[in-house]
Amino acid sequence: MEIKVHTREKDYSILLERGALYQVKDYVDAKRRVFIVTDSLVPKEYLSILQKQFPNAKSFVFESGEKNKNLSTYAEILKYMLEAQLDRKDVVIALGGGVVGDLSGFAAATYMRGIDYINIPTTVLSQIDSSIGGKTAVDFEGVKNSVGAFHQPSLVIIDPDTLKTLPKRQIRNGLAEAVKMGMTGDEKLFAIFEKEDYMDHMEEIIERSLRYKKRIVEEDEKETGIRRVLNFGHTYGHAYESVMDGRYLHGECVGMGMMRVVKEESVKERLQSVLLRLELPLSCDADQEEVYKRIVNDKKSVGDAVNIIQVNQIGKAVTEVWKKEEIKEALGV
Ligand SMILES: NC(=O)c1ccc[n+]([C@@H]2O[C@H](COP(=O)([O-])OP(=O)(O)OC[C@H]3O[C@@H](n4cnc5c(N)ncnc54)[C@H](O)[C@@H]3O)[C@@H](O)[C@H]2O)c1
Repeated sequence: MEIKVHTREKDYSILLERGALYQVKDYVDAKRRVFIVTDSLVPKEYLSILQKQFPNAKSFVFESGEKNKNLSTYAEILKYMLEAQLDRKDVVIALGGGVVGDLSGFAAATYMRGIDYINIPTTVLSQIDSSIGGKTAVDFEGVKNSVGAFHQPSLVIIDPDTLKTLPKRQIRNGLAEAVKMGMTGDEKLFAIFEKEDYMDHMEEIIERSLRYKKRIVEEDEKETGIRRVLNFGHTYGHAYESVMDGRYLHGECVGMGMMRVVKEESVKERLQSVLLRLELPLSCDADQEEVYKRIVNDKKSVGDAVNIIQVNQIGKAVTEVWKKEEIKEALGV
């Protein structure tokens, strides 16, 4: 299946198909040199499937983990790109999760003032969310995604078969973002989590999430308006992520963040039962005062208020402005 994304920067396709990893060569002009970036925990079999298709490609493998989404890995990638003598007609292929995608996308955005990159996401989170939309970045001075660029991929190739090697925790972690998308704009997507076994509906979940994100990105490429709905659960979620210092994954923190924000009882009950079905945590033992401090110091806070994306009805998001007392109240401090 092909989904077309139209943005001001460029139009590109998302190919969603089992076995698509074996067909990447069909989409790359044979004259272009290929530079593959992946990390140490992405199964080697996927890299070799690509290497068989591009025997002359250079590859760069960095150590897996958010802690390596930094300027020094970014510089290393650029160094190898220079050594491989890539020019602006060549192409970077990102093979892996959101960390690989964000790093390689940023390297592609800046190398020789920007070259093409193809994103081949291999985690649920990256297949449903981070691989499209053109946000690329590294973390800097402890601040997540603080150095980066908007640079749309020239193609996204999603092979759901790659998820067969992904640990269960990573699968559920990624699905938290799909729950978020269902909550904010696609009630049918949310209903899959309420009624069905998500493993039997993975392709439908990926497709619905991508179509939803595509709509938002096309409308608001640089997050000046509607794209902010995608931050639902993220204000509290990011604070949990940093206070708990890696003990919880991003999606797990977003789940807990959504639980803090929703006030409408019936919505909260439905969210809670979906998170429980997905075996995602509802809360954690974070120091709530610390969480509060991180929220008010967040770059998205304005004066003594914070914009919070709220859901009072499944499938519909609104923006609320919360004063400090309200932020505290939701944390129970
Ligand atoms: N650019 C965006 O719009 C956007 C959106 C959301 C999140 N993000 C970023 O995405 C990152 C998180 O992405 P993630 O959750 O994919 O984490 P990740 O990239 O760290 O991947 C998680 C782990 O799974 C391993 N892995 C990847 N594919 C695998 C497979 N098929 N089988 C087995 N193991 C595999 C990786 O090596 C890694 O150890 C964060 O840095 C976040 O900031 C970016």
